Amino acid sequence: MPNKNTFDVYPIGVFVEKYLSRSRRSIDPFARNFQGADITNDLNPETAAKYHYDAAEFLFRFRNDTAFDLGIFDPPYSPRQISECYKSLGKKAGMKDTQNAALYKACRDAIDLLIEPGGMVLSFGWNSNGMGKGRGYKIQEILIVAHGGAHNDTICMAEQKEASLI
Ligand SMILES: C[S@@+](CC[C@H](N)C(=O)[O-])C[C@H]1O[C@@H](n2cnc3c(N)ncnc32)[C@H](O)[C@@H]1O
Repeated sequence: MPNKNTFDVYPIGVFVEKYLSRSRRSIDPFARNFQGADITNDLNPETAAKYHYDAAEFLFRFRNDTAFDLGIFDPPYSPRQISECYKSLGKKAGMKDTQNAALYKACRDAIDLLIEPGGMVLSFGWNSNGMGKGRGYKIQEILIVAHGGAHNDTICMAEQKEASLI
């Protein structure tokens, strides 16, 4: 079944652990209560994450720190989920805040700055856009997890940042 704690879904948890076990230093801007990464953040202050900033702002704070070899990208999957998250925190969300495309772009651009060449980014959601070729990432693995009934699948991607030619 789908789960708010994405990585509690067994095959997804195994997927994440495989890459975490190979990682030296990792960052997770949408962590909820998952404590696998070295640096964790979640907007919701009631979660177990270490920091509680908006993800784009959180990632910007680390902009001069490029020593991460693993980024985890597990945001709200739809405008509705974003809006529910804001509402549960008593925050007002305008049209702009609930656009997942805008949130994803800002966070992907910011996470890219932190990942060293050869590093990995894991993305979770309802599509396989990921970090993308345009940012210099190559897909290493895709796992599609079906949840039954009329639920959307969870698409899990592992992409590697190409090594710099310089
Ligand atoms: C899909 S859940 C992450 C689940 C987590 N990976 C796990 O396995 O338990 C997305 C999380 O993003 C948080 N969130 C939503 N909007 C955010 C934002 N703008 N900045 C930071 N965190 C946000 C929510 O509070 C929620 O815990």
